[in-house]
Amino acid sequence: MSASAPSHHFIYTDWNLIETQFDPEQINHKGTVFTIGNGYLGTRGSFEEGYPRALSATLINGVYDDVPVVYTELANCPDWLPLTVRIDGENFRLDRGEVLSYQRQLDLQRGILSRKVRWRSPKGKTLDLYFERFASLADQNVLALRCQVTPLDFNGSIAVSASLNGYPENQGYNHWEEIERGDGDGTIWLHVRTRSSHVELGMAAKLLLSGTEGTFQVTSVPGYPTVETTFAVAAGQTATLDKIVTVFTSREAQTPAHVAQEKLAQLSSYSQLQSAHIGAWEEVWQHSDILIEGDTKAQLAVRYNLFQLLVSAPRHDNRVSIPAKTLSGFGYRGHIFWDTEIFILPFFIYTQPKIARNLLTYRYHTLNGARRKASYYGYKGAMFAWESAETGDEVTPRWALPNQPYAEDIRIWCRDREIHISSDIAYAIWYYWQATNDDEWMRDCGAEIILDGAVFWNSRIEWNPKQQRYEIREVIGADEYHEHVSNNAFTNRMVQWHLEKAIAVYQWLCDRFPERAAELETKLGLTAKLRDRWEDMAANLWIPYDPTTGLIEQYEGFFNLEDIDLAHYEPRTRSMQEILGIEGANKRQVLKQPDVLMLLYLMRQSEEFPYNKEILQKNWDYYAPRTDITYGSSLGPAIHGILASDLGQSDEAYKLFLQAAMVDLEDVRGNAADGIHAASAGGVWQAVVFGFGGFKLTQEGPVATPHLPSHWQRLKFKIHWRSTWYDFDLRAEASEQKAEGKIQGVIFDLDGVLTDTAEFHYRAWQRLADEEGIPFDRQANEALRGISRRESLMRIVGDRNYTEAQLEEMMERKNRYYVESIQDITPNNLLPGARELLDELRAAGIKIAIGSASKNARMVIEHLGIADKVDAIADGYSVQLSKPAPDLFLHAAELLGLEPSQCVVVEDAESGIEAGLAAGMLTVGLGPAERVGKAHVVLPSLEGVTWEDLQSQLFGTAAGSRY
Ligand code: BGC
Ligand code: BGC
Repeated sequence: MSASAPSHHFIYTDWNLIETQFDPEQINHKGTVFTIGNGYLGTRGSFEEGYPRALSATLINGVYDDVPVVYTELANCPDWLPLTVRIDGENFRLDRGEVLSYQRQLDLQRGILSRKVRWRSPKGKTLDLYFERFASLADQNVLALRCQVTPLDFNGSIAVSASLNGYPENQGYNHWEEIERGDGDGTIWLHVRTRSSHVELGMAAKLLLSGTEGTFQVTSVPGYPTVETTFAVAAGQTATLDKIVTVFTSREAQTPAHVAQEKLAQLSSYSQLQSAHIGAWEEVWQHSDILIEGDTKAQLAVRYNLFQLLVSAPRHDNRVSIPAKTLSGFGYRGHIFWDTEIFILPFFIYTQPKIARNLLTYRYHTLNGARRKASYYGYKGAMFAWESAETGDEVTPRWALPNQPYAEDIRIWCRDREIHISSDIAYAIWYYWQATNDDEWMRDCGAEIILDGAVFWNSRIEWNPKQQRYEIREVIGADEYHEHVSNNAFTNRMVQWHLEKAIAVYQWLCDRFPERAAELETKLGLTAKLRDRWEDMAANLWIPYDPTTGLIEQYEGFFNLEDIDLAHYEPRTRSMQEILGIEGANKRQVLKQPDVLMLLYLMRQSEEFPYNKEILQKNWDYYAPRTDITYGSSLGPAIHGILASDLGQSDEAYKLFLQAAMVDLEDVRGNAADGIHAASAGGVWQAVVFGFGGFKLTQEGPVATPHLPSHWQRLKFKIHWRSTWYDFDLRAEASEQKAEGKIQGVIFDLDGVLTDTAEFHYRAWQRLADEEGIPFDRQANEALRGISRRESLMRIVGDRNYTEAQLEEMMERKNRYYVESIQDITPNNLLPGARELLDELRAAGIKIAIGSASKNARMVIEHLGIADKVDAIADGYSVQLSKPAPDLFLHAAELLGLEPSQCVVVEDAESGIEAGLAAGMLTVGLGPAERVGKAHVVLPSLEGVTWEDLQSQLFGTAAGSRY
């Protein structure tokens, strides 16, 4: 785990992202991270009760509205989340009262976000709250939220109100005007319209109560319809509130408010909606999942990135695409870049081809915008927008407006010069076609995009009579640190490639679909003469490549710029452009992101010019050290990672892969609050499949030549290629240990084995006893080892008279003191030998679980900094029966996907050894034989213990044994 990771309070398991603490400072980073969606809309992970600084947002794909400077943006839609819980006049909020326990969890497998909180109100009432929400993947217009409330130490009345917030803002700007609102039959609804684009939206909601009886009341403040229920519950009784919401816009329904109400009336129960949703996810993962064994952090991170792509990808709409920040934040205003075609699309082409087709069809529908752009600049054909929205007209802002009074406005040149986008789209279309053989789509849509793009290039490319070559002047390449360049190798080669493919597509159309060819000839002005010119241009377009050195010059004159040594600027937390200024970066050989290397990457698949291993190595050695891979563009690391992997630099490759994979989870660049880095997420899929998996398409079909990171045991994924699914199940070379022993998992008890929290428990009990005036000391504490919380308290209070409620409260208080004090736990609190053994087990591909009775186990693990070494956690919440019952260890084995006989238990308590034996596992006891003598192997502690020792003692033999 990286040094900064623990502060994000995350635990990673195979499928679940778990947050163990609420930190108001991270509210907007986490708002992005906990985004859910269903391809139709995305909802940021804001809390139901609302916080003033939270950027809450629900973005519906394609719902754009005008806005100054950046032209158009995705309008933040009415918020469907608001739900407040009021007890005795006090609203539940995490920033008031006391949070006794907290856990938020994103279940990637089922697409469900949940939160479990134990909270004490300022007036001292304690309750458990459980929240859960999903955006139905089975029915895109349906959203559902559940809240369960259980009072713990009082009987009383609780009020819950559920609202629709018709005043959402895009950072201060409200795009909506209300048309109408209303209610009826316990439901509320809202009908609004965007101010300029006049997209109408209808949202309806109902609130259902179960577990107790209540009264309902509807209030309808302008723009904020609310339904409230008041009910009585007794201590220990759970009330369940289901808020079901429907949403439609005029993009898919003529009368969206009406349709939303009708739909709402027809919906089944929360649990039925949920099962349909889970079923839909199951289907998606069947094709799109990647399984990684031996690296839980990578496993979770990869699934997380794929999840975020899947929730933002249009499933039923081909007039929208995936914005650079998905539907998860305000960054880049919902605009669409080359990020989709080059970074994101491969994941969809090879695992969800229908979605890939939707994404590409968006470019077909925006062709007219691209034509308007070409004609505005005095060219012909289709010149695609660098930043695109609904119509395909250019929406890259012309100016960046500073917020300092005397700073100058900055002209953004990407709209005028970053023209490689047109060929990037052609590239994506070509590979979609190759992978799917979707001739029909190619005939109807793809060909026209490629051909009209070539028409544009024909008008854009210049002939240089002096040099007798074609050139492309005044562009911005992939590397945006250099804004006024000519003959950028990346652009020129991509254009050349585009022309080559245009000629092939034109020929194919003439052969296969002569009618369509004739139609396009008329529409686009295609002639035999034009085709000859494309050929001439493709043959004579200059690529600045020097065969004597193997080096490609990024653009004409790049090598004359002042050189730079990036090491001199380390350590840094800002981009090189911020450090040097725009002009400073322009003047130096420093790159924001791969450019020549990006070109090599794109030509790698087909091994076309200029790709070959030697050229790659030469150019890698030159450009990688000059690229701002940490704070330049987030598009860089995944691509560099793949190339590093090709060049045999596996440690570097893995490091770069993690940099991409953790960009949002761990906010590696400090800007995750703006939204998910979608291109990086797509790059992560490519890094795993193309990089580590070594997946390539050959004449004979797909093949994989894996270069797995050394600790990965297995990598499994599916690829769809020309109507067939290919399963790749790549395993690391069976290690010696695996061949030798049957043991595949080790389950560690936590306390007394990996760490010692006895002191922290002691201090908490002591503080409680002092407050209650009960005598207690260290010696008395000794008798509490391995004893449950309740039993310990009973021993402390002895025969003093306390009511059950008082006892409950005291246990709560002790736990609170304990939880407070374990915040001080650091990796230094690991017991000697623990880290070494964990690392060794991981390297040997042995799975690791925690089997601890503690309800705080997750938090302790996180503070110890070993969360990324652990594959599964069975804790105080996992099972009913405690040790010596075998249940907890059996549960841990199940989580690991292993048979009990494949597991070893490491324990320091007698009851733990008994539990391990009862579970049919091998056992290692730590401590005196009087306590753990029943174990198969008894050791004083983990200090100096190696996996080899353990195996030799357990089996009496060893692989390459020292004995
Ligand atoms: C990006 C450009 C983008 C511009 C305006 C810059 O930060 O690098 O690609 O066009 O912002 O949104
Ligand atoms: C990158 C572009 C990218 C854009 C949107 C910019 O910072 O330089 O390559 O398309 O961000 O992600």
